[in-house]
Amino acid sequence: MERKNILLIGFMGTGKSTVSARLKKELDMKEVDTDMLIEKRQGMTISDIFAKKGEEAFRNMETELLKELKSERNLIISCGGGMALRDENAAVMKEAGTVVWLTAEPETILERVKHDDSRPLLRGNKNVEFIGNLLEQRYSKYKAAADVAVATDCRTVKDICGEIIRKVCEK
Ligand code: S3P
Repeated sequence: MERKNILLIGFMGTGKSTVSARLKKELDMKEVDTDMLIEKRQGMTISDIFAKKGEEAFRNMETELLKELKSERNLIISCGGGMALRDENAAVMKEAGTVVWLTAEPETILERVKHDDSRPLLRGNKNVEFIGNLLEQRYSKYKAAADVAVATDCRTVKDICGEIIRKVCEK
């Protein structure tokens, strides 16, 4: 069956990649990770893109990719954590499929990202205060972009995916 796309959005460390990998299997859909596809096409890591081309250039790549994916079907699209910040992207996402917002508390996020240095925005900022502040700044953007929200703190990926599937089916 050709399904409508499912877009996963949310802050860094809310489990988008982990959830995407399981949903893909459970729903027999294909998976696209926007960060990974941008890295592959650019031939460099996200950190290098930020350092050499700047954040704005990376955000433009995200918007372009999203527009390209909009017309596809049967995809789980795991979006980079900043994808929902541009209103333009939020509008494209709504057309592209059902938008699922994964949430987590700053403490949970810190635990999940503390040993990973691949995210330029968190370099030197791995503390609850920084994460909490950035989360607060972004909260209204994620909320506005989302069709449904699913909390991920202290839950198994199986449980989270079960809730996502239920909520997406109800939409
Ligand atoms: C970003 C999140 C990252 C990546 C980039 C910027 C953000 O993706 O796109 O480092 O602004 O929140 P993940 O959410 O997959 O870590």
